[in-house]
Amino acid sequence: MKPSFHTLKINEIRQETPDAVSIAFEIPDDIKHVFRYQSGQYLTLKTSIDGEEIRRSYSLCSSPFENSWRVAVKKIEQGKFSTYANEHLTEGATLEVMSPMGNFVLPESLDEKHFVFFAAGSGVTPVFSMLKTILNQSESAVVTLVYGNKGFQSIIFREELEALKNTFMNRFRVIHVLSKESLGNELQKGRIDEEKTNRLIQTLLPIDGIDGVYICGPESMIHGVKAAFINAGLSVDTIHFELFGTATPVVSKVQETDEVITSLVTVILDGEVLDIPLASNQINILDAALEAGADLPFACKGGVCCTCKAKIMEGTARMDVNYALEPDEVAAGYILTCQSHPTSERLVVSFDE
Ligand code: FES
Repeated sequence: MKPSFHTLKINEIRQETPDAVSIAFEIPDDIKHVFRYQSGQYLTLKTSIDGEEIRRSYSLCSSPFENSWRVAVKKIEQGKFSTYANEHLTEGATLEVMSPMGNFVLPESLDEKHFVFFAAGSGVTPVFSMLKTILNQSESAVVTLVYGNKGFQSIIFREELEALKNTFMNRFRVIHVLSKESLGNELQKGRIDEEKTNRLIQTLLPIDGIDGVYICGPESMIHGVKAAFINAGLSVDTIHFELFGTATPVVSKVQETDEVITSLVTVILDGEVLDIPLASNQINILDAALEAGADLPFACKGGVCCTCKAKIMEGTARMDVNYALEPDEVAAGYILTCQSHPTSERLVVSFDE
C-alpha cells in the first residue's frame, strides 16, 4: 500500500524519561487497515512549526498485538520537532501521520530462535516493539537485549523491560551498558562498540545458536557491533540494522563528476507521469520532482528512512548514500530518490511498485 498522510488525534502523551515522551494515536476504524504495521516499522509525522513544514520519522514502540500505535520521541538539542513534542504537544491535538513504513522487521517464523538486539538510547524504540512481539507471539523464542545508555535515568522503557523480564524469566535477558554510571562490572561500563561486543560474544553471547542480530543506534555503534559478529563468524544475512539517533544523515548534494549526463527523468506516482530534465550533477530526483510540483512521499531526505523509495523501470541511477534499502532491494532496482541522480540519458522511476 502506498504511503499517505492522515490526520490523527493524539490520545495519550506519556513522559518516559525526563527528556523523552511517547505519543499514542487514535486510529479511526475506517483507516485501521491503512495503519496495519509490523514491529520495527516507523511513522512519519508532519506538522507546521513557526510556519515551517516539519517531517520526522519515529519508530513505533507499541506492538501490533497491543492494538496500539505509539511512538517515542527523545528531545534532542536544537531538534525542532522533538522539542515541540516534548514541551508543547498535548493530548487531543492532531498531527498528520503517514501510514507505517520500514524494512527493519522480524522474520515470519519466530519459534525456537534466539534473537539478539543491540540498542543505544532512543534506538530502543523499534527494538522494544520487536521484543514484545517475539515474547508474546512465540512460546519458544529467546531474546537478549544489550542496551546502552548514559545512566539509569535515561533508560527509556526501564520499568516495562523489568516487567517483561519477570514475566518471561527464562526467555528474556537484558544487559545494560552504561557510559556514565557503574553497574559494578567492567563489561557493563562504557559504550557499545566493537571491542565491547567482542567481549560480550566471548562471555555471554556465543554466536552458536544466534538466529538474528538486530542493531539500532548511531552509525559508529552499528559498524562496531556488525564487525564483531562478522569477525566471530556470524553470517552477514543474520545481521539487520537501522540507523537511529546521533548520526547526521547525509543530505544529498550536488556533486562534481567528470562526466555530466543530461537525462530525461520520468517519475510515476499513482499512475500519473511527470517528465523532468535533470543532469547527473544537479539536485536529487526527489527534490527535482518536488520542485516541479509532484506530491511525492518523503521524510528524512537523508537516506535513512525509506519513505522516498521508488523502483527504476528503465535506465540507471546512483545513490549518494543508502542506509535504508537492503541489498536485495537495490539489486531489484529500488532507489532512495532523495539520494539518487540519473546516470543514463533516460530514466523512469515508479513510486507505484
Ligand atoms: S526521505 Fe528518507 S530516505 Fe529518502
